[in-house]
Amino acid sequence: MGNFRPSVTRRFGILTSGGDCPGLNAAIRGVCRAALSRYDMKVTGIAGGYRGLIGGDARELRLEDCSGILTRGGTILGTSREKPFKTEPAANAGEFGVDKVAAIKDNYRKLGLDCLVVLGGNGTHTTAYHLMREGLNVLGLPKTIDNDIVGTDRTFGFNSALAIATDAIDRLHTTAQSHNRVMVIELMGNKAGWLALYAGVAGGGDVILIPEIPYDMKSITGHLKKRAEDGKSFSIVVVAEGALSVEESGMEKKDRKKYWAETSSPSAAYRVAREIEAETGMETRATVLGYVQRGGIPSATDRILATSMGTAAADLLARGEYGRMVALSGGGITSVDLSVPAEKVKFVPRDHFMVNTALSVGTCVGE
Ligand code: F6P
Repeated sequence: MGNFRPSVTRRFGILTSGGDCPGLNAAIRGVCRAALSRYDMKVTGIAGGYRGLIGGDARELRLEDCSGILTRGGTILGTSREKPFKTEPAANAGEFGVDKVAAIKDNYRKLGLDCLVVLGGNGTHTTAYHLMREGLNVLGLPKTIDNDIVGTDRTFGFNSALAIATDAIDRLHTTAQSHNRVMVIELMGNKAGWLALYAGVAGGGDVILIPEIPYDMKSITGHLKKRAEDGKSFSIVVVAEGALSVEESGMEKKDRKKYWAETSSPSAAYRVAREIEAETGMETRATVLGYVQRGGIPSATDRILATSMGTAAADLLARGEYGRMVALSGGGITSVDLSVPAEKVKFVPRDHFMVNTALSVGTCVGE
């Protein structure tokens, strides 16, 4: 067993919340093995994210529960998108009754927790921040394939999804070339376009469209026509699921959805593909990569990041440093106050170096 060190935290709860991704189990393993072996803490695993804490669905996590999960995708605890602070009409209160926050505070006490460790994205950390203001001790680990959490250079899950998306783009190159087609691939990223931007550059996309840069279809079709004139018989268009045209970006969300339902498709890739083919006459096909990006085993980079963040969380627990989110900063692991990620999304800045990199290799970003 490890060399035991004194710990301020005796028992903590751990939960995974929001979209799953490769690396979650590596992070759970990192926190728990350090806490159990080095600090002799006790661990309560909470099922199904905040929903499990509301319902008291918890079990003891022991060292043996952390064996064999480093390379396992998904989360052994299960997850949900429960948002306890989201006010719902009493009629929608569900089986837990109206006050979910009271249920959380009550179960936190009944389970004898000194702290709650949450692994999740933007919504998870916003809930964590509000629970901290309600008097709970909370620590967060930044997880999402979207890489859109303020306060950390990188989230675990992103690198694995980047590898999956890049492999998919590589595969589209061969079929596009064989058929002299334009292939449009839609990647995840509803609010922020980090995954589409990085995978687009890694995969050699000719056009990359992200939510942060509303696109002009004439710019896209002009770029594709120029490629054809220069003898390029195929093109690859990488679209984040949240990408919008200039016109669509000026519409209210509800009006956009109505417009899409009446005229085209809720999928960005299918909308873009349809317009490209209509305006250029080039044979165009769309692929929505979807949940494949969140499946499978974590990359080595994500295993290292998730494990390092997990053990860093155990160190914070031992020191009784609560109200923090573990973060990657300048290549090192640190932590920031939970107020830093709460209620925010990290968008791709127009002057980000990766946008310039894309432009410098001749990629069209829709402008
Ligand atoms: O938050 C990560 C994410 O994969 C987004 O990229 C995507 O838009 C969303 O989750 C999908 O949500 P759900 O899993 O609830 O369908």
